[in-house]
Amino acid sequence: MLQTMAYKVKQFNLSGLKGISDKTLEMHFKLYEGYVKSVNELNEKIAEVLKDGRVDQDEFPAYSELTRRLGFEYNGMVLHEYYFGNLQKQGAGIPSSDSDFMRATEASFGSYDLWKTDFVGVGKMRGVGWAICYQDPTKGMISNHWITLHEIGNVAGFIPILVMDVWEHAFILDYAPAARPKYIEAFFSNINWQAIDGRLRKDVISPSSSAA
Ligand SMILES: [Fe+2]
Repeated sequence: MLQTMAYKVKQFNLSGLKGISDKTLEMHFKLYEGYVKSVNELNEKIAEVLKDGRVDQDEFPAYSELTRRLGFEYNGMVLHEYYFGNLQKQGAGIPSSDSDFMRATEASFGSYDLWKTDFVGVGKMRGVGWAICYQDPTKGMISNHWITLHEIGNVAGFIPILVMDVWEHAFILDYAPAARPKYIEAFFSNINWQAIDGRLRKDVISPSSSAA
């Protein structure tokens, strides 16, 4: 891969969040940088295999293993960017009543509270992974999904709207493993709801919602 095509680490200015310490964030940024580096390395190694214009038979086992790892490393990179990108200092806690996200929760779940109950429930599921609220760009519907590791459960073509890391590294310096619900509460108090609205496709949200 051409050097200019390599992924670059993005910067996020988040120090001073409620209930998620700067120490946790610094460690988390380092982990994220590791994913960016791994993606670039994998692409370089695959480009090396392809250099002579073909995948030789003796290269096939290594080539396959490199390619299999793309899903883990790419999603590890991208999901962290969504995660840091949906946090902010002095978050409002809940979206404003006239926001597009509020409208989307009402159209898909009947109420914001029920949407939140589901999203928090997904976040409390046992295992290592992510809770993600996706929007179906064709129907406008939003739905909450559990992602195992970084790559199992993502829905192709759906738009990640709200992304919550529930790997223990996201909170272990601030909370015990069994106190994940406290971390989820802290996460919610730091959500950047404007960024969430910015990710939504407004034109496809069901107009049938009457709760607004
Ligand atoms: Fe993480």
